[in-house]
Amino acid sequence: MSDKDVTRRDFIKGTIAAIGGLIGTVIALPTIAYLLSPAMTEQEDTDSIDLGPLENYPVGIPTRFEMTRTRVNGWERTATNYGLFVVRKSDNEVRVFSDICTHLGCRVSWHVDQEHYISPCHDGHFDKMGNVVSGPPPRPLDEYVTRIENGNLFVTLPPFKRSA
Ligand code: FES
Repeated sequence: MSDKDVTRRDFIKGTIAAIGGLIGTVIALPTIAYLLSPAMTEQEDTDSIDLGPLENYPVGIPTRFEMTRTRVNGWERTATNYGLFVVRKSDNEVRVFSDICTHLGCRVSWHVDQEHYISPCHDGHFDKMGNVVSGPPPRPLDEYVTRIENGNLFVTLPPFKRSA
């Protein structure tokens, strides 16, 4: 066996390996792109949520509404539980507040006897319109932008912060 034969054999082996690698890459690229594409996209949580007919909410009484939203970020799915208080001031005037205390994030509940939302963690109190009455919360409850369409109440996520 001469050196020339070995070199030719090596050349053929190298060429076959290169062609095999190229074919493998061409086949793998769409698969890799498919697997990576969800990770490259991010879904903003700025949706409009239908809270149902406005007439379901009594005037003057904060009424709780709960929902769970699933957010997809790449391959990651996150379920978030939202609690809202709908306060209907009149037939067509409504405000919607988050139930997350602005101190350290405990969930507030409406106490009819005191007419306050109360945070159980550090006894933070808010009035019916979400303004701080007492306790450590630094600012009012966050509020949602509302819209009434064909008699149904909609809010837009996420809620916005109000200044103290
Ligand atoms: S978390 Fe509400 S008062 Fe501290």
